[in-house]
Amino acid sequence: MRQPTSQQVTGGIGSKPLYPDYQTTDKMLLAKEIIAAEFKKAEHYLIEELHSSVPMLDRITGYLIHTKGKQLRPVFLLLCARLGGALNDISYRAAAMVEIVHTASLIHDDIVDDSMTRRGAFSVNALWKSRAAVFAGDNLFIKAVLLPLINGDHKTLQIFSKAIEQTIAGELMQLGKTQKLNLREDVYYDIIRQKTATLLSAACEAGAASTFTDEQQIEKIGLFGEKVGMAFQIKDDLFDYGTADVGKPLGNDIKERKVTLPLIYTLNNCDGSTKRKLLQLIKQDQVTADDMNFLQKTVKEAGGFAYAEQKMLSYRQEALDILYEFPESSVRHALEELVMYTTERKY
Ligand code: IPE
Ligand code: IPE
Ligand code: MG
Ligand code: MG
Repeated sequence: MRQPTSQQVTGGIGSKPLYPDYQTTDKMLLAKEIIAAEFKKAEHYLIEELHSSVPMLDRITGYLIHTKGKQLRPVFLLLCARLGGALNDISYRAAAMVEIVHTASLIHDDIVDDSMTRRGAFSVNALWKSRAAVFAGDNLFIKAVLLPLINGDHKTLQIFSKAIEQTIAGELMQLGKTQKLNLREDVYYDIIRQKTATLLSAACEAGAASTFTDEQQIEKIGLFGEKVGMAFQIKDDLFDYGTADVGKPLGNDIKERKVTLPLIYTLNNCDGSTKRKLLQLIKQDQVTADDMNFLQKTVKEAGGFAYAEQKMLSYRQEALDILYEFPESSVRHALEELVMYTTERKY
């Protein structure tokens, strides 16, 4: 894990990520290349917006800029906007906004999930404790909303306000439901749609709304984003069972009693005694390495990973089918590659 230096913690605006493995893959690069110049403009808004006159907040946001993530949502947003024509300031501001909303949701998510690492570095709550992290997250949510509000980007504001409300509702729903352990598969989809897919959907919709005039086309692109978001979260849930370095803790979902698709399938398809054993294991206060190994082996043998993978690919296909309704172009191709990236990515 990369360790923050005091210089990083105290600033670093505009600097590059330190973690050498934490870089984009070719498919993501292709997408980023096509909108490279536009991405810079969006990044300008992002950096400007994150700056704060409150010293502690400025240190936190400086750190966040330094440890930036894949920036998948602004890339989707700008590419969806490009499907409809030349980009404009509304597109750039919306791209900055979605990354700020996403970052705010991660800060709060790490507090709730008691997670000490993020993006190959310490999480905000690990470095500044939960009290400061709560306010930093709140501050970012408000900053994100102020950006389109001050600039009169009403459509962007409308799309993202709904998405923020749903992201929070999704996280709350997850808290309430997954702790019950016997989570129904359809409820799992409802949760991930709300907590993750709505923001990706909003990113695509807001991008489209900045360049398209036809409401039906804008809605269609929103639906495309939702399908991508579903596949994206299933992939994330699969990561949690893996052993590869993804820049955040592994096995955290189980520790937090978060039952996700591979386990839901396993619980519904194993014999009574295995089910009892699994439920007992998840309920424990401490999950040992042996427990994790047993869990992984059982889920694998029951076909839980294969099932989740198959569902992820079927959401991916639904996304691609929507995308193929748009005329072929280099931008559409880049979006196609980006969709593939969301399910083939290594972190
Ligand atoms: C992580 O999102 C949170 C989920 C919705 C699963 P990303 O994987 O896009 O996070 P960063 O921004 O690249 O770190
Ligand atoms: C997604 O869920 C979090 C948000 C929608 C904010 P996770 O809890 O699985 O995300 P990670 O794994 O911590 O990134
Ligand atoms: Mg989490
Ligand atoms: Mg996760």
